[in-house]
Amino acid sequence: MDQFNYQNQILFAEQQPLNKVAQEFGTPCYVYSRAAIERQYHAFADAAAKHPASLVCYAVKANSNLAILNLLAKQGSGFDIVSAGELRRVIAAGGDPAKVVFSGVAKTADEMRFALDLGIKCFNVESSAELEQLQQVASAANKVAPVSIRVNPDIDAKTHPYISTGLKANKFGIDILQAEQIYQTAASYSHIDVVGVDCHIGSQLTEVQPFLDALEKLLKLIEQLSANGIVLQHIDIGGGLGVRYDDETPPSPADYISQVVKRLTDYPHLELVMEPGRAIMANAGVLLTKVEYLKPGSEKNFAIVDAAMNDLIRPALYSAWQNIVPVVLNDSLPSTVYDVVGPVCETGDFLGKDRPLAISQGDLLAVCSAGAYGFTMSSNYNSRPRAAEVLIDGSTMHLIRAREQWQDLWRGEQVLIS
Ligand code: LLP
Repeated sequence: MDQFNYQNQILFAEQQPLNKVAQEFGTPCYVYSRAAIERQYHAFADAAAKHPASLVCYAVKANSNLAILNLLAKQGSGFDIVSAGELRRVIAAGGDPAKVVFSGVAKTADEMRFALDLGIKCFNVESSAELEQLQQVASAANKVAPVSIRVNPDIDAKTHPYISTGLKANKFGIDILQAEQIYQTAASYSHIDVVGVDCHIGSQLTEVQPFLDALEKLLKLIEQLSANGIVLQHIDIGGGLGVRYDDETPPSPADYISQVVKRLTDYPHLELVMEPGRAIMANAGVLLTKVEYLKPGSEKNFAIVDAAMNDLIRPALYSAWQNIVPVVLNDSLPSTVYDVVGPVCETGDFLGKDRPLAISQGDLLAVCSAGAYGFTMSSNYNSRPRAAEVLIDGSTMHLIRAREQWQDLWRGEQVLIS
């Protein structure tokens, strides 16, 4: 969170005090730092640039705001998408379709057609049935679809079970032992061009070793394929690098990617593709919220805030821990242990449990590390308009998504006429 620092007891994003942001745009409100986003992108891109050919494809699902996609596109980023909606966002933000890889287990024929028409870099195919449908769609459109097979290397990413994806028991990818067969089928199809291989073993990994183990398995497959006449142009190592939420010590992007680049020394013709999401965005954003009430109890004290699980679902969904800090420090207040909870009518509606905080009613809090999988996973549950999003650039504030209006809550709905 190094673009978020206290100056004279007030938390700043870059050169902008966060209490001013709340004053201007209200709460709950997501606030991002441009400098943090660009620095993290370059940490990947610069380390990868040591390899003869490389491309960072930012995972749009982590944070898909158009302003953020646009910033990244301007830095040269490509994009990893999982739906036509994400692809439309990339285009609307000025992204280059030729730098887009399309992941996901359930691409529809319509989505395939749309992506083919735009000329994306690659479809990351996850099953034989999907490959067959892509062949049919491409043939009908008189186009050739560039394909990478997403293999499941059966590696334990040692992360939360809901965000672990590279085990045989997960729905993702094709068992690496069956991959050769599907590559042969793909190579025999008239409207498929086999260009690469990819994997994504999970998210919030805090060690390099599982990535290197997966890489080893992919390289073995590449060798095997090439011995049988299928020569790949790229290797996509997915996303998944973890960040520091609490006391984790994940490798830096430079550290991780330089180890990958080193291993690829003997493969200069293989383009290195990466799909980082969280490691670019998580610590580039906070969620600002206001303490509505303090509610002391015999077993628990509650700090009831105006942000809820509909704004940030990670604590409720994964028991994720994110730091919560006052925007203005007040040394004269005693510290009390609170559960920080929202207004939603669910016991699971909490942002943090057992947090020592020196706060009073009306104070502002910042939920840290909220730049990834924050706004994108938010909803209108309990008919709560979704939060505003603000991007800080030096001392300038840009509103990059207006707070939803009341009418947005029922947009598209219709009462019966009789
Ligand atoms: N590529 C693919 C194919 C993915 O499925 C994902 C994330 C990524 C790249 C980016 O992974 P990252 O670098 O962000 O770890 N909502 C969860 C995380 C779900 C990740 C899903 N896939 C959370 O809030 O922790």
